[in-house]
Amino acid sequence: MRKILPHCLGAAALLVCATGAVADDPNLSGLAATCNNCHGVGGVSAGSSMASLAGQNRAYLEMVMLQWKSGERFSTTMGRLLGGYTEDQIKSLAAYYAEKPWTPAAQELDPKLVRQGGFVLDRCSGCHGKTGGETKTEDTPRLDGQWVRHIDLELAKYRDGTLALPNQKMADNAHKLKEKEVAAIAAFFASQSGEKAETKSK
Ligand code: HEC
Ligand code: HEC
Repeated sequence: MRKILPHCLGAAALLVCATGAVADDPNLSGLAATCNNCHGVGGVSAGSSMASLAGQNRAYLEMVMLQWKSGERFSTTMGRLLGGYTEDQIKSLAAYYAEKPWTPAAQELDPKLVRQGGFVLDRCSGCHGKTGGETKTEDTPRLDGQWVRHIDLELAKYRDGTLALPNQKMADNAHKLKEKEVAAIAAFFASQSGEKAETKSK
């Protein structure tokens, strides 16, 4: 029998807990149940504006969440939410999601945009890799098969110029894109199906 955890008491969370959201460490799966309401069961997002977390690079997950907790990073939702979590819980959640297999989203994309995105790739691949999967550093997020609307939204935030987003290099790269190129490169990365060897089977 799994213990009922305090995090599982919300009505929506209860549903996730009752249907058995993964379970290695019961404390962690209890914590993660809250997240899964928005980010999908096991962190595999079902909605196109919400990022999948499962299989994302651990250092990236940890970094953005700690930046939200400290308030140095702009957010609509996550800052408020993570205020209630300890740094240790955040680090555990990052490791929990990073261990899961990366699952590229099943999504319809405009093949013409995907093709055009290929011409923008050179400006991104130095850090994100040729498919968005083989990232050059662990604090660079993978983008291959991420939801296209999420990629679009994040690029819009970096391009806005007034939002607190600590990574100036990424902001500079986003600024240099033309409007048309944003949609194209988002479609390109979204169309990729995961390059890292260990995720091939999914
Ligand atoms: C109410 C919906 C909601 C819940 C619940 C939620 N998130 Fe989020 N999450 C968001 C939104 C919206 C964003 C985009 C950033 C923002 O504006 O807050 C986001 C972004 C993220 C990102 C960045 C993903 C990326 O690729 O850039 C991470 C990591 C994350 N959330 C982790 C979590 C974790 C861990 C939990 C549970 C403790 C959680 N989220 C719970 C809505 C939610
Ligand atoms: C100098 C290295 C570098 C280059 C070049 C670069 N990026 Fe990034 N990118 C990063 C890093 C590091 C992050 C995490 C940034 C942060 O902390 O906000 C990131 C974050 C992102 C995100 C947010 C993903 C998410 O899940 O929230 C998107 C989207 C993105 N990059 C797209 C691009 C595109 C498109 C290009 C090419 C036009 C590009 N990047 C070029 C390093 C780079």
